[in-house]
Amino acid sequence: MLKIAVFGSGRGSNFKAVLDAIQNGELPDSRIVLVVSNNSDAGILDLARAAGLPARHISQKLSGSEEAFTADLLASLRAAAANLIVLAGYMKQLPSSVIAAYRHRILNIHPALLPSFGGKGMYGLRVHQAVLAAHESLSGATVHIVDEEYDHGPIVLQRTVPVLASDSAESLAARVLEMEHTVLPEALRLFAEGRVSVVEGQSHVHVISLQE
Ligand code: GRF
Repeated sequence: MLKIAVFGSGRGSNFKAVLDAIQNGELPDSRIVLVVSNNSDAGILDLARAAGLPARHISQKLSGSEEAFTADLLASLRAAAANLIVLAGYMKQLPSSVIAAYRHRILNIHPALLPSFGGKGMYGLRVHQAVLAAHESLSGATVHIVDEEYDHGPIVLQRTVPVLASDSAESLAARVLEMEHTVLPEALRLFAEGRVSVVEGQSHVHVISLQE
């Protein structure tokens, strides 16, 4: 059973896509056991509460220090018995001890084809502006395993969308977001069905997503 803790800072459409996939049977043996946001007024917390799920505002500011913040995160994750963390629009860097405690069990969804157009500062419309500025013909969404660097961990699943000559950053963002809502539940299903194994290589970690 996947017991998923979802972290987000914004409206929560990716969280909703995962919740819908669970509720309509597309994501077997999975439950969302906790939703965490660093923003007390984030839409993701409202969506979680409306679904009757534990919704926690946890932030370094609220906890008072990095150590207290880390302890609060770990305590909430343990209390919920979470065994997988999903970052869905979470704009903060997870403390390294949380990454260590959930090594290879933290996923992030990024609105571009990593390793391109990722890294610190590459979020929101900036990502899509960079894709347009680079005259790419394809963009897409990436689900990857989180490590200590931004948008850097091994890729679990990617799906592409076309970039149209008429695209603005906003129109491309909308097309990518729609694809995110497909690729995130699809990546979680690979985990739920035990079809993702993370192999520690000599110089890197790589993921074998064993799709059909
Ligand atoms: C998504 O575009 C995601 O790729 C990025 O932040 C956005 C979150 O959107 N990391 P939402 O809160 O899931 O609607």
